[in-house]
Amino acid sequence: MNEAVAGAAANMLEIRNLHAWYGESHILHGIDLDVKPGECVTLLGRNGAGRSSTLKSILGLVGRRSGSIKVQGQETVGMPTHKIARRGIGYCPEERGIYASLSAEENLMLLPSVGPGGMSVQEIYAMFPNLKERAHSPGTRLSGGEQQMLAMARILRTGARLLLLDEITEGLAPVIVQSLGRVIRQLKERGYTTVLVEQNFRFAQHLADRHYVIEHGQVVAVIDRAEIQQSQDKLNALLGI
Ligand SMILES: Nc1ncnc2c1ncn2[C@@H]1O[C@H](COP(=O)(O)OP(=O)(O)OP(=O)(O)O)[C@@H](O)[C@H]1O
Ligand SMILES: [Mg+2]
Repeated sequence: MNEAVAGAAANMLEIRNLHAWYGESHILHGIDLDVKPGECVTLLGRNGAGRSSTLKSILGLVGRRSGSIKVQGQETVGMPTHKIARRGIGYCPEERGIYASLSAEENLMLLPSVGPGGMSVQEIYAMFPNLKERAHSPGTRLSGGEQQMLAMARILRTGARLLLLDEITEGLAPVIVQSLGRVIRQLKERGYTTVLVEQNFRFAQHLADRHYVIEHGQVVAVIDRAEIQQSQDKLNALLGI
């Protein structure tokens, strides 16, 4: 195996020159991104920058895309969404997607398996104790935080090892945000790979190995965890914080 091939195989997710369109609207303009197994990276940026579209592109949920998206070394541009997901991807969309008429536990069981080694219900309830208490409550009766936990728990059931999480802290109380932070840390310890779209930089900075700042559908800065302090001014300017 030559060096280039060995390098490619080492990435869980490798995106090159990704362009994406919704109908006639050209939204992503050449995104490059590398995530190694077990890493947590964030996509940061202002509203409308293209962060959600990047996650959706990975799963083929945009109108059209070009470029290359390799998941565990396999090219997925051109594959249908259900096949891409079976490469072991779990996606928490911004809108969470909890079914109101189903109980928490029914929601938990809903998604098909995408890989081996999904968490058991017992493991899930150990990680999210609130959900155990709410197992038989209908989706509508769950708080925003409980719905978010359920949306995450649900993808952990499927055996996904690459987690795409879109704004999981949005609108949640600080105490819930803290418990989500603990969950992300535990998942990292267990070797999960995570791409986190975040508005809450204070939350993200302690969790991620690396930050990608997106602006107008392009990566305009890549900042390693170790560089955050010295990059603070640049980050403030890019994110408007
Ligand atoms: N379904 C769609 N059809 C047409 N345009 C879209 C669609 N979804 C998003 N866009 C546009 O694509 C651009 C990027 O949107 P995206 O949702 O990726 O942004 P974002 O970085 O996630 O920001 P935020 O979540 O704060 O809106 C925006 O200009 C948005 O208006
Ligand atoms: Mg978004």
